[in-house]
Amino acid sequence: MKHRAQRAIAECRLIATMSEESGRITRRFLTAPMHQVHAHLRRRMEEIGMQVHVDAVGNLRGLWQPAAESAKRLVVGSHIDTVPDAGAFDGILGVTLALELVGIAQDIASPLPIEVIAFSEEEGVRYGLPYFGSRAVAGRFDPTLLALTDADNITVDSALRHFGLHPDRIADAALDDNAMCFFEMHIEQGPQLEAEDLSVAAVTAIVGQTRLTLTFTGQANHAGTAPMHLRRDALAAAAEWITAVETVAQHSDGLAATVGKIIAEPNVGNVVPGIVRVSLDVRHARDSVRSAAVEQLLATAHTISSRRKLTLECTGQLQQPAVPMDERLTAFLDSSIQAAGYPSKAMPSGAGHDAIVLAGRLPTAMLFLRSPGGISHHPAEDVRQQDVEAALRVAREFLLQLGRHVG
Ligand code: HGY
Ligand code: MN
Ligand code: MN
Repeated sequence: MKHRAQRAIAECRLIATMSEESGRITRRFLTAPMHQVHAHLRRRMEEIGMQVHVDAVGNLRGLWQPAAESAKRLVVGSHIDTVPDAGAFDGILGVTLALELVGIAQDIASPLPIEVIAFSEEEGVRYGLPYFGSRAVAGRFDPTLLALTDADNITVDSALRHFGLHPDRIADAALDDNAMCFFEMHIEQGPQLEAEDLSVAAVTAIVGQTRLTLTFTGQANHAGTAPMHLRRDALAAAAEWITAVETVAQHSDGLAATVGKIIAEPNVGNVVPGIVRVSLDVRHARDSVRSAAVEQLLATAHTISSRRKLTLECTGQLQQPAVPMDERLTAFLDSSIQAAGYPSKAMPSGAGHDAIVLAGRLPTAMLFLRSPGGISHHPAEDVRQQDVEAALRVAREFLLQLGRHVG
């Protein structure tokens, strides 16, 4: 497993160089470096005897079929897009590990066909909405998404066509009924496994997520002559609200609330900001707690805006309920962790994953690997070889279990 783990890590570091920006890792949905990643992974897939195709939403898909007549198959994968200035392992490690798992399946002559999917868009960076790749695979791609535009006013439809894809065939990307279950391997992206000195964990559920955009509209004015008591400063209002967002989350157990993006207009030093757009990302394991927190934060935004004589607009990008992983599969995964010689550990995921979408379509399980330093969505994101070896040992046991019980 050592060699497989070393190769999985080396592949992630190589693919990290396929970026929109030199010197840092940024690979958004359907951008040029995605062609490089596709070409590289296609070569790797074909080398191990997989049939490869790219579906209409840009997912790269490889199928290993051990014997012509075998039907039910295991689907394994993760995403290959990244946030700006990302780490080298978020998403892509789940794909390089999936390819190693195909190699392991071949070594043990597993009867179970495996489809590996490298999802084209999970982060939601380019179009503000996540999971395009897995939505299509789950048969849940809403065609109205094709009209969304990015910062350069390019629609999803034209981005797909520019990439050489056919948006009118997205329905063909949906899994058929021979897809038996979905398995995703992913870094934890948080501090828990490191704190407990554990290599791996089974994921029990993925927390729910709300993504909104708030627009505070006041009055642009001269920074030197506009009297302070007459200003309708949109950035000062947003700043007051952002502090309130942090305070609410700090005092609500298990709640994560983040304002990660802010755009001030006209965004120059000698003009009082007239319009400010901010993102809001709220997450919690329980949907009722998340919705109540969102309501409270929006009410606070309205109170601040009216006191400051501003107007407020709110648009929603995502309302994703919390999703449990399949109980039976997760029990198999937990016993695979133990059979591989590691302590049993199960935990929820604070991060979103393609598994949250696939879980609505077929039984789904997720395996976490330790994140050294508990950091992710950052160049310092890392993995330990021993943990990657652990994940491969667990995945091998999981494959044997599936072959015995489910296939
Ligand atoms: O935002 C997330 O939770 C994931 O990284 N897409
Ligand atoms: Mn991510
Ligand atoms: Mn991810």
